[in-house]
Formats: sequence, structure tokens, C-alpha cells
Amino acid sequence: MQEFDPHVLEEKPIAPPAEFQKRARVQTLEEYKKIYDRAKDDPEGFWGEQAKMLDWFERPQKVLEWDLPHAKWFSGGKLNVAHNCLDRHLAKNGKKVALYWEAEDGKRLKFTYAELHARVCKFANALLTLGVKAGDCVAVYMPMIPELPIALLACARIGAIHSVVFGGFSAVSLADRIGDAKAKWLITADGGYRRGHVVPLKDTADKAIESCPTIEKVVVVKRTGEKVAWKQGRDLWWHELEEKASAKCPAPAFDAEHPLYILYTSGTTGKPKGVLHTSAGYLLGCMYTMQLVFDLRADSRDDDVYWCTADIGWVTGHSYLVYGPLANAATCVMYEGAPDFPKRDRFWEIIERYKVSILYSSATAVRAFMAWGNDWITKHDLSSLRLLGTVGEPINPAAWKWYFEVIGGNRCPIVDTWWQTETGAIMISPLPGATPTKPGSATLPMPGVISRVVTMKGEAVKPGETGYLVIEKPWPSMLRTIYGDDERFKRDYWTRIPGVYFTGDAAQLDADGYTWVLGRVDDVIKVAGHRLSSMEIESALVSHPSVAEAAVVARPDEIKGEAIVCFVTLRSGIEPTRELRAALGEHVAVTIGTIARPSEVRFADLLPKTRSGKIMRRLLREVAEKGGVSGDTTTLEDLSVIAKLAAAKGTDEE
Ligand code: PRX
Repeated sequence: MQEFDPHVLEEKPIAPPAEFQKRARVQTLEEYKKIYDRAKDDPEGFWGEQAKMLDWFERPQKVLEWDLPHAKWFSGGKLNVAHNCLDRHLAKNGKKVALYWEAEDGKRLKFTYAELHARVCKFANALLTLGVKAGDCVAVYMPMIPELPIALLACARIGAIHSVVFGGFSAVSLADRIGDAKAKWLITADGGYRRGHVVPLKDTADKAIESCPTIEKVVVVKRTGEKVAWKQGRDLWWHELEEKASAKCPAPAFDAEHPLYILYTSGTTGKPKGVLHTSAGYLLGCMYTMQLVFDLRADSRDDDVYWCTADIGWVTGHSYLVYGPLANAATCVMYEGAPDFPKRDRFWEIIERYKVSILYSSATAVRAFMAWGNDWITKHDLSSLRLLGTVGEPINPAAWKWYFEVIGGNRCPIVDTWWQTETGAIMISPLPGATPTKPGSATLPMPGVISRVVTMKGEAVKPGETGYLVIEKPWPSMLRTIYGDDERFKRDYWTRIPGVYFTGDAAQLDADGYTWVLGRVDDVIKVAGHRLSSMEIESALVSHPSVAEAAVVARPDEIKGEAIVCFVTLRSGIEPTRELRAALGEHVAVTIGTIARPSEVRFADLLPKTRSGKIMRRLLREVAEKGGVSGDTTTLEDLSVIAKLAAAKGTDEE
């Protein structure tokens, strides 16, 4: 959890920049409060009203059926998510650019809504010829290329459930996720590019499939042209399937609650959870927040050019690079590669080239840009920007201010958006024309969201005191369950503090009712905004033959927010060496994915445990934060003192 500086609470709010405010959808705090109160007093009336922004084939009969913790939104309603993202725009916006895609090597492509629609229809037909039916699960393991959103929308069009696995995950992680969802189809690419290097996705997919008996067909996009292994009868080239497919594909009507996708995320245990989102409520959440938080201008002569820098492998990419912007007929930018390739001004070059007006990125990215220095930025014209956003982790006030001044030229409001894979859409955020901001605070809940900061007993904490962030009422884009594990859904989110949704975050409210999210209270680690579980990394470590026991904690990191520190006890007779330390780091990267590579692996003689044998991570966190043994020596740490202390205390800490 981030160290919290109470002084920031005393900072004066920053009013929305006047020029922005004049044209914003919501222009005053009073207006926000009016909408908020209306939603609070009559949530079903409010959401029923909002749901009119979707294009329904059959209108819903009921807004909400709530049988805690199970919600059904918009029962009786029928729609098609892909139709809402594409077909309905064709008459008016068919020629409008839906997507500007830029490859890492500089290659550029442009898709109008009509072109994107045709590509999606073709690939949807291709999926149908492969036997994919509504309700089937299709796994997706792809680089950031246009075929990725096309694949998602094609699945949505025919009612198949997509399960995207981030391209940086390992074969083991991919296999676990395919296995859990029992996917029969996998869509991948021969490879992707990252900082000029080829990422061999097909090779990794092949390894994963060795332990995935459910997979019948693998569709492969030719991206790099590198030679890949080929299994006749199982592997199919995307372009060959697409060439044969018709560009006409009906968009059938599906129930409002038809499953749209599964997205795996890390929780407290080692097993990732498959967060299940459904159709209408999720799409509404994305569409509604896109309008209010990003103040999107579409359908006019000065349309926005919107760029969300997240990878579609994460929820931010799902909601704010695919479903939210396309449902709103926005023009989006999608970039394939790294922000520092070939040079550290790649982002600013892209903003200048496409005249990006809305930029949505992560706090980690902002801190990295800040560290790289302003010279990379000042040589570019960023005057097209009018709004900036961040997501994924707390943003420290210094980085916030730098973003505001240097990138936003003091004229762009910043929306610090708090939400989760589970919430589907933004929950707490300023409305950029209305909410005075305080650097480091996600400010106020969205209309329709009732968030609270409470004790474990569910009692409200006083302003300035730390408590648990919870959500009181159901909301349309909430997860419906954990795929295949409804008990875990109930246990993790709805029974910790009975009757409310438990976010897993600690937070404070200030005297103005602003929310300050401090970080996770569970064993979830946020590295560069990516969510990882301590337990997952620990089980990767103990699967190494040299390791007897491991404990993994996070320590604050100036750029990445948090960094992974592993404490490892070796099996008897195994010597701690530099080579072994490097090998263990590599082992974690290979087992989970490079995003989980530890910053430090520290050898310890024994780990501090309670009498009942539970590892005391809190103590280890303190040790990790204080530094101590340098990452480059192989001295065995003597943790016996804290181990004894821990044993003497004798209580389970968490
Ligand atoms: O701890 C919070 C942090 O990210 C967690 C959710 O992670 P994930 O499901 O990967 O989704 C990230 C993208 C939506 C939260 O429980 N988090 C997210 N946004 C913020 C944040 N912490 C502070 N401020 C934010 N704006």
C-alpha cells in the first residue's frame, strides 16, 4: 500500500480549466450533484433512462432484478453488442475513422466504421465456419494489432464469449486460463513486436496448447512473417479464413445478460479469477462513462481523437479502447509498441501526428515520462490535447502536477479514474468540466455509484481515517460472477463486509467527501498498474527445485508504483549464489510472464511465521521497504530475530 501523506488533504482544489468547462457536457459541481442525487434517489429510473443510449432490438421490461449478490440488468431486453459498436453508426458515420493504428515500426493503417464493420463481419463468418456458436468461449492471445479488436467484436457479433490473455503472459499462464474457460478455439499471431524484438506468441501458444486438450482450432494472424511450427488440421491462417468469408453477417439479438467476456485477474490466492461480464449492462457502463468522464465529442465537426494507451489484454483496453469508444462512434488511436521505441518521444510524436485530443494512460507511464525529462516533450506540438486521464494505481501528487503542467499545458483537466476489472467501467472520477480536482484523489463517485469508506463492521469512518472502500448498490457493468466459481464470487466480494461489494482497496475520505484510494489491502501487488498476486509468484518460486519456501511482498517503487520483492529459503545443501538468484527471477518470468519478474530475490535462512505457521508478510514488507541487504550480494539474511518476534506475537496478522 502506498505511504499516505495527510498533508495532501489540505491542498486547495484545482477548478476545471475555464475554456474546457465552457463546452463540457457537465459544467458545474451543482449539475453533477443534481445528476448524482437523481441517480441515488431512484437508481432504477436513472439507469433505465441511461439505457436508452443503447440500440435495442427489444426493449427491456425490467431495469434490475437484485438477489444479492446476483444482479440481472435490463431483463427482457435484446441487443447485439457489435451492432451497437459498429452497424448503428454506418448510416451517419460509415466514413468516419474508427481506428488509426500505428505499428511500432512506423507502419500505419486507418479503418473507417464501414471498413471495420466489414472486417468484423468477415471474421465473424470465419468463426462460424469453425463451428463457434453463441455461448462458446474463444481464447485470444494477440499483440496490439487491428485484428485484436476485430476478433473481440466478431465474437460479440455471434454471441461467443472472448477470453483475452495478455500477450506478455507465459505458456503456463495461458494454459491455465484456456483450461479454466475450456476454450476450444485460440486466436493468436505468429508473433508481435516489442522494442524492435519479435515476441514469439505462436511458439508460446503451442507450448500452452500441449496441456490444453480442449483446443481444437488455432487461428493465426501473420504479423511478423517469422517461420512458425504448424499443425495441419489444427492451425489456420487468419487471412485465408478472412479471404473466403463474406462481408455480410447478421447481428442476432441476444439477451441483455448474455455473457460477453471473461477476463482473468489476480486475487488473493494463486489461482487467477475469471471475471465474467455480460452484454447490455457492461456496454452501458462503458458508453456512459466514456461520455461523462471523457466528455467525448462525437457526431460533430470537431470530433475528438481519443487515445487509450492500455493494452487490450487488460480491462482498460477492453472498456476504453474497444467497447466504450466504439459504442460512442469515437475516433481512436491504437499503438502497437513501447513508449520509448525508437525514442522516448514516441507518444508525443503520435499525439502530434493524429492530433489526439484525449489521452488516457497510466500513472506509471506518467512517472516514466517525467523521469525521462521534458526535452522529449517540448519539441512536439501537443496543443491538440484537451483532456488527460490516468488509471490503474494511485498517482502521486508530484506526477499529477507534472502531467497537468507539462503535458496538459495547464489547460487540460485530469481525470484520475478509479475502477477495477470487476467493476467493468469507471466508478470514481472527476467529471472534467465540473469537479474541482485534488492531485492524487480520484475525487467523487460517478452518478449511479454509491461508494463508501467503512470499517470491517461496515460503519463509516471519519474523514481522514483509513477504511475499506466498498460499493453499496449494484451497478450495470458489475461482474456477474467468477467464471465457474460462484462461491468465490460471493466470498471474495460480498461476504467480507456483508451486503456490500468489497473492493479490496483501502481509502480515505476527506472533508469534502473526496476519495483517496491508498492501495490494496489483500496480497495483490500492482506493478506498473498490472495486477499480480503474491501467492501466484510464491507458487512459481516453490516450483523451482532449489526452493524450499518463498514469500513475496511489494515495496514502493518510484516509477512502477510497486516492485516485487521475493524472500526465498533454499532447500538444504543448496548454496545461495548470484546465478541462482538470476535463475529464480527468470523462472518466475517464464512461469507467469515477464511482467512478474521480481525486482529483488533475497535469500533468507527462515521466514517469519506466526505460531499457526502463517508467513507474516507485513514484517517482510517492512524489511523490503527498509532496503537492507543489497540486491547484488548473496549473503543469507538472518531473519531469525523477526521470526522470533513474530512467533512471540503468536497471532495471525491478516
Ligand atoms: O487498487 C486499485 C487500483 O487498481 C485495482 C484494480 O486493478 P485492475 O483490476 O487491474 O484494474 C485496473 C484498471 C481499471 C484497484 O483495486 N486502481 C485502479 N485505478 C486506480 C487505482 N488505485 C488508485 N487510483 C486509481 N485511479
